[in-house]
Amino acid sequence: AVDIPLEDALAHVDEFQQIADDNGGNRATGTTGYQASVDYVVGQLEGAGYDVHVQEFSTTSGTSKNVVATLPGGSGEHVVMLGAHLDSVARGAGINDNGSGSAGALEIALNLAERDVEPTATMKFAFWGAEEQGLLGSTHYVDSLGQPEIESFEAYVNADMIGSPNIGYFVYDDNPNGNFIRDDLAGLFEAAGIDSDHVDVNGRSDHASFIDSGVPTSGVFSGAEGTKSSAQASKWGGTAGQAYDSCYHSACDDRGNLDEEGMDTHMDVLGSLVFDYADNWGDDGT
Ligand code: PHE
Ligand code: CA
Ligand code: ZN
Ligand code: ZN
Ligand code: ZN
Repeated sequence: AVDIPLEDALAHVDEFQQIADDNGGNRATGTTGYQASVDYVVGQLEGAGYDVHVQEFSTTSGTSKNVVATLPGGSGEHVVMLGAHLDSVARGAGINDNGSGSAGALEIALNLAERDVEPTATMKFAFWGAEEQGLLGSTHYVDSLGQPEIESFEAYVNADMIGSPNIGYFVYDDNPNGNFIRDDLAGLFEAAGIDSDHVDVNGRSDHASFIDSGVPTSGVFSGAEGTKSSAQASKWGGTAGQAYDSCYHSACDDRGNLDEEGMDTHMDVLGSLVFDYADNWGDDGT
């Protein structure tokens, strides 16, 4: 299994908190805090050698941007993408939602670029704008793709909230085309000693427009406003009868609002999947 370094991911989380502190307390669409988040992620990805494109679009809350990074070298025939939304709500810094997924996806991208092996799949990482306004960034991106490009997508994997303080270990189960991804993710959790649960998230994040276009999708999730059951508390720890994240969409979703060890497990599972898919698409005719 792949070990994505937690300390390095937490340095990205610290940066998102600092950006919020310096920009009126949040990183929401249309704000300087969002732009600073874009600048940070772009700088990190370019420094690692990625080909980075910033896609601008307008919303009723102001201009927003997607950051889409591609690891050079792939043929473009088989695309694997990991995505996370980069915006917060206006109420707070958005550290679990979704500094956690953004930091995880960024650190996985940086670690992938450092390997000596060249992937057989074309590896892309997306940092979406305006998710909180209704999945606007990811929808804009998918709408901008032509049919041949859509068909080259073998998998889209989403990371939205992966360090909830009353942590859950969920794998998205809302796309029958993506059951192989769901099963691979559940297998990786199991290898890490975690009995994950499938969850139908009803397209509540940025994989939704990929589902609509027929792309296989899944994702990992540590829970939002839902309540942890006693069965889940027995196998995962934490507190039954309480929300996975009682600071969801609130001002208290700050640097203190993370289960760091749980976030590391989600990140290592995602990293293991991404590294595996990077090397197992293309040459064997799949
Ligand atoms: N997309 C939701 C938000 O950003 C949270 C969520 C993520 C819900 C994944 C379900 C599944 O607020
Ligand atoms: Ca790790
Ligand atoms: Zn949210
Ligand atoms: Zn979110
Ligand atoms: Zn294929």
